Amino acid sequence: MLRKIYYKLTPGMRMLARKVYYLPVDFYEKMIVKTNTNTPSKGDIYVGSGDFVLQGKHQLHLLQKHIDLQPKDKVLDVGCGIGRTAMALTEFLSSEGTYHGFDVVEKGISWCNKNIHSQYPNFQFQFVPLRNSLYNSYTRESKEFQFPYADCSFSKVYLFSVFTHMTIEDIQQYLNEIYRVLETDGYCLATFFIYKKEEDLNKNEGFKFEYEKNGYRLLNNSLEEANIAIEEEKLHAMIEQSGLKNVNFIKGFWSNFRLKSIDNDFQDIVILKK
Ligand SMILES: C[S@@+](CC[C@H](N)C(=O)[O-])C[C@H]1O[C@@H](n2cnc3c(N)ncnc32)[C@H](O)[C@@H]1O
Repeated sequence: MLRKIYYKLTPGMRMLARKVYYLPVDFYEKMIVKTNTNTPSKGDIYVGSGDFVLQGKHQLHLLQKHIDLQPKDKVLDVGCGIGRTAMALTEFLSSEGTYHGFDVVEKGISWCNKNIHSQYPNFQFQFVPLRNSLYNSYTRESKEFQFPYADCSFSKVYLFSVFTHMTIEDIQQYLNEIYRVLETDGYCLATFFIYKKEEDLNKNEGFKFEYEKNGYRLLNNSLEEANIAIEEEKLHAMIEQSGLKNVNFIKGFWSNFRLKSIDNDFQDIVILKK
């Protein structure tokens, strides 16, 4: 119910609602406890619930485990948000490694520049004003966007909880772009909600994705980017079209909480290779 009301708000109102909701706890932590400044205040963390630092460390673990992330890697973090994974990577990437991240929400990128890039110059963040009706009110479409990087410039690319908030056409363009910017033999880790054609999602403990479309399902019928689940066959066809190869799949626990483990995530993990 609360989620439905939240989705009815404009992107700006959603950001404001979060800020107001967490105002007392943020005031307490900043003025009384004087919490670590390497963490954004709770009202500014618009990228999901859970502990900012622990989730970042978990994402780093998944990158090491599933795409063999190394300190010297040239990394691209698509939809880097407010630096949750980047902050964890500051303690892992060496000065020979490079990190680039971009996102469609300016305040996340500003926070990253002020709090991460200022201390770690090999961490670069870029704001791109592209439309995403969950997060902003811009009009430029991601399906026409070319990543601002040269061909073959990254050894590892990852997207945590980004393709679950994009339209099918936008995802296809991003898969194509990931193929272009990855080195040969480079890897990409991306999270999705994936279901099989015959699967009955109503039995799920978590998200049920009630609204069926052509090869995908939505959590909210009027806000496509709120959360999208893609039918397995359709996703495989999209991956194939991009030129990438699907080399591994790690089932998430979004449909069955008993599947939770240290090596998986709420969302399904797909490993792609160029
Ligand atoms: C759930 S948040 C996850 C953020 C980050 N990956 C993390 O795990 O902390 C989804 C992010 O995707 C970003 N995003 C949505 N559409 C995007 C697009 N077309 N290009 C780049 N980033 C996008 C949002 O602004 C948001 O920061």
